[in-house]
Amino acid sequence: MEYHITHYDLEQGALEIQYIEEFFGEFPRKKTAAEIVRRLTGRAHLILLANAPLPDDRGSVVPVSFKVAHEVTINEAEPKLHDLVNRLRDYVRFDGRRILYTWIGGTRRDWRGQGHFRALTEQQEVWAIEQGFDEIVVKTKNKFYDMRGTLDHLRFEVVKYERNAADNAESKVYLSKKLLPHLIEQHRSAKTVVQITI
Ligand SMILES: CC(C)(COP(=O)(O)OP(=O)(O)OC[C@H]1O[C@@H](n2cnc3c(N)ncnc32)[C@H](O)[C@@H]1OP(=O)(O)O)[C@@H](O)C(=O)NCCC(=O)NCCS
Repeated sequence: MEYHITHYDLEQGALEIQYIEEFFGEFPRKKTAAEIVRRLTGRAHLILLANAPLPDDRGSVVPVSFKVAHEVTINEAEPKLHDLVNRLRDYVRFDGRRILYTWIGGTRRDWRGQGHFRALTEQQEVWAIEQGFDEIVVKTKNKFYDMRGTLDHLRFEVVKYERNAADNAESKVYLSKKLLPHLIEQHRSAKTVVQITI
């Protein structure tokens, strides 16, 4: 199978992400395009979507999977990112290294288990290495079993576990993957990547 990936610019990508998130019942608070633009403006970022045909209408191709990532640095001023970096600084080395944070991502239910998220992850790694990043970090929760299982398959390592005293299912799990030179050789997904810039 060949995966079809689109690499979007900020404005159009933000609209695409807002649109695709509508299909995710499990996300309680969906991101708006404005929020995405606010977060990504002024920092290195990557918006990737995978497209695939509708099962009952192979001629219609729709976005089915997405991944949005941006750089985080030790000097974040924005409160949420400042907090994130503070929680990570003893577990991920920031000094002299570039860290890419995978902020949001997922695959629409009907297209899960078909390799779309792996293809996006591999493309993200290609881009991140080209851009000079050293490590990718991601945050999830204990209760997101599908995501935890997937990150396991994609060879992310747990770097921190933050226990939620009231409910362990809500505990946060931080994972990371170092972008070592041999990583690309291990990639498995055949893909075409189209870059959309206005
Ligand atoms: C997690 C999620 C993104 C996986 O997307 P996907 O397109 O189905 O993933 P892929 O088909 O590319 O699978 C990638 C790898 O993970 C594995 N995998 C996928 N779903 C899995 C699951 N539920 N449990 C264990 N492993 C899983 C696949 O077997 C594959 O491994 P392999 O390539 O070594 O065979 C998707 O299930 C999803 O969107 N879930 C809801 C989002 C969510 O939970 N978000 C929480 C916020 S962090």
